[in-house]
Amino acid sequence: MDNQIDSFLKKLSYGAIAIASLTLFSLFLRTPDTCVPQEAPPKPHLRFPKSSCDFTSTRPHLPSDKKNNRLWSSRDWNNKLHSISLIFLPIRDLGLLPNHSKILCVSAGAGHEVAALQSLGVDDVTGVELYDSPPLVSRADPHNLPFFDAAFDFGFTARFDEALFPARFAAEMQRVVRPGGVCFLLVGECGSHEVRDVVRLFRNCRFVTSRNITFIGIRMTSILLRTRKSSS
Ligand SMILES: *[C@@H]1O[C@H](CO)[C@@H](O)[C@H](O)[C@H]1NC(C)=O
Ligand SMILES: *[C@@H]1O[C@H](CO)[C@@H](O)[C@H](O)[C@H]1NC(C)=O
Repeated sequence: MDNQIDSFLKKLSYGAIAIASLTLFSLFLRTPDTCVPQEAPPKPHLRFPKSSCDFTSTRPHLPSDKKNNRLWSSRDWNNKLHSISLIFLPIRDLGLLPNHSKILCVSAGAGHEVAALQSLGVDDVTGVELYDSPPLVSRADPHNLPFFDAAFDFGFTARFDEALFPARFAAEMQRVVRPGGVCFLLVGECGSHEVRDVVRLFRNCRFVTSRNITFIGIRMTSILLRTRKSSS
């Protein structure tokens, strides 16, 4: 009698082990819902607004190379690159953007400006953003840049408007640009009063020029500043 119960219990436990193993195995084979690429099926409500954030939202789901190749061959990407290149050409004409410049792009999003500057022939372009987008953009807080003073010849940002602490953002940007270097900003289109307000935040810079431009179809104002030669 005991033997029968014993063998029954043994069978029961083997059965349980088999069921548990099968369950584990099937869980292992099944793709978790959270890893399904967002392209299939489309879930527009889960997408970020159409902006540079688009790029980061798909990051965990694709190997970096594949994702980058797809992004970089897209028409949208190339149009933006072209649009950004046009903005830097007048600065190049002023002689302020030689190929050997060391450039920092702050809040560089997916890295359009980094790619645009590289395509213009600038050798040393660094892009930073709160979220990294390798290989063009690495992660850094614009309010606390991980660079030495005067490490760059040229600082650029197209997202000064979005800075949480504009004064801090400005102070950091001009800190890492060498004396006599360039700070170049794009802000939402504005008149001379607002331009003056922005310039005032860059205490260690002098105003060179501002222009109304169209940047990727958006009307913006570009502001060109030079960092002062001595920080007196
Ligand atoms: C800078 O680089 C670009 C692209 O490589 C090249 O076409 C251009 O001539 C270079 N400019 C200078 C001044 O060397
Ligand atoms: C740029 O546009 C703003 C707003 O439309 C305007 O007030 C300002 O005068 C323009 N600036 C220049 C230099 O045209």
